Amino acid sequence: MYNNKISIIGTGYVGLVGGVCLAEFGNNIINVDIDEDKIAMLNRGEIPIYEPGLKDVYERNLADGRIRFTTDIESAIKESEVVFISVGTPPAEDGSADLQFVLDVASSIGKYMDDYKVVVDKSTVPIGTGRKVAAVIEEELAKRGKEYEFDVVSNPEFLREGKAVQDFTHPDRVVIGTESEKARQILRDVYRALYINNTPFVFTNLETAEMIKYASNAFLATKISFINELSALCEAVNANVQTVAEAMGMDGRISSKFLHAGPGYGGSCFPKDTSAIARIAEGKGVELKVISAGIAANEAQKLRMVDKIEGRLGDLKGKKIGILGLSFKPETDDMRESPALTIIPELIKAGALISAYDPQGIEEAVWRLKDYEKDITYCNNEYEVMKKSDALVLITEWNQFRRLDLSKVKELLKQPIFFDLRNVYEKEELERYGLEYIGVGVPA
Ligand code: UGA
Repeated sequence: MYNNKISIIGTGYVGLVGGVCLAEFGNNIINVDIDEDKIAMLNRGEIPIYEPGLKDVYERNLADGRIRFTTDIESAIKESEVVFISVGTPPAEDGSADLQFVLDVASSIGKYMDDYKVVVDKSTVPIGTGRKVAAVIEEELAKRGKEYEFDVVSNPEFLREGKAVQDFTHPDRVVIGTESEKARQILRDVYRALYINNTPFVFTNLETAEMIKYASNAFLATKISFINELSALCEAVNANVQTVAEAMGMDGRISSKFLHAGPGYGGSCFPKDTSAIARIAEGKGVELKVISAGIAANEAQKLRMVDKIEGRLGDLKGKKIGILGLSFKPETDDMRESPALTIIPELIKAGALISAYDPQGIEEAVWRLKDYEKDITYCNNEYEVMKKSDALVLITEWNQFRRLDLSKVKELLKQPIFFDLRNVYEKEELERYGLEYIGVGVPA
């Protein structure tokens, strides 16, 4: 049994959700960050991010004293037997992951540890990073003339934004990558709540665990690109991609998940991880043809949406286009790599004027799209964007866009053309209200 104390370095999205949920599993958590304001906020009982269900679990564990927040990394490392590294790995200029923060934490561990530690990597890192972390710790220990024992473990996370608490507390699997039996035993204790609940555990070596994370994200991204490519063919041959995906998904070997055609995938993970794995492979002289094709197909899908709009509206000069949804998916204000960031600039370059609304994403959109600000009007609600617009384009499937008052939509639009880039509506339904329906991969 380990000493039941875990420090988690980094209180970003993964670190905070992980910390709060590991506390819920009965561990004592010290969450560490260099950002003093953030730590003060968390100690006051305020959460810096919005994630469904997080507040409840956080408040309960804070009140019960199972989690605390500090900037004192030295004491946190000394006190705990397990140290999770949950700092960011932002993409560097060339698309590879920037490991500076991860390696900084490794050197702090080497500087301050005075006992055996299990160092757990939760950040998504290139294959081989676990060994680098171990080397940096060794180096620091050597500088101090110390020889404390430690193990490095890769324990990738599979959290989705908007479902992170559910995904952490009810995972499909827990992956533990280390050759050390002692570290495996300790991680089994850390995740005891899941282990005794029949959650599958995959014990493997460091590199395999690091690979599993990239392989999973790259597969899901490629699956989306696969159906998105077929959506173009479906349009050309009068087939319905929704039905194709549904029927394909009935085959248990395929599964219907992540087979929804749309304007292309976005977010902080799929684009970053697919280009990172392609770069890793390139560095090793291995060509990942399928994954590279998936990346290219995703770029093409975003542009295909623009062609679709231009194809129907003709010359876009002076045309007003209403946009519903800016964030990369619903229930988040995250705009990173959102398809809207390609579609809107392309429409503007072709001469269009944009009016846009998103329940959470406007603030971020304003700075991400600042080069185009004179041609974009941000609206206060979904109906405002439609006023006198030549077409309506639904980019993100927020729930409130699924139940639009369609007679009002028809009344407000100058031309009753509805591009449904998430296939939320049925053609027949819109036509009943006098709206022309244009979906993705569905018969015109
Ligand atoms: C993704 C993975 O789903 C998580 O398992 C993983 O842990 C996470 O990345 C990560 O590496 O941290 P996330 O980026 O939050 O999670 O979002 P998803 O719900 O996976 O959606 C990603 C994108 O794919 C969105 O733009 C979404 O609209 C798009 N998508 C998803 C489709 O276009 N079609 C689909 O069928 C599913």
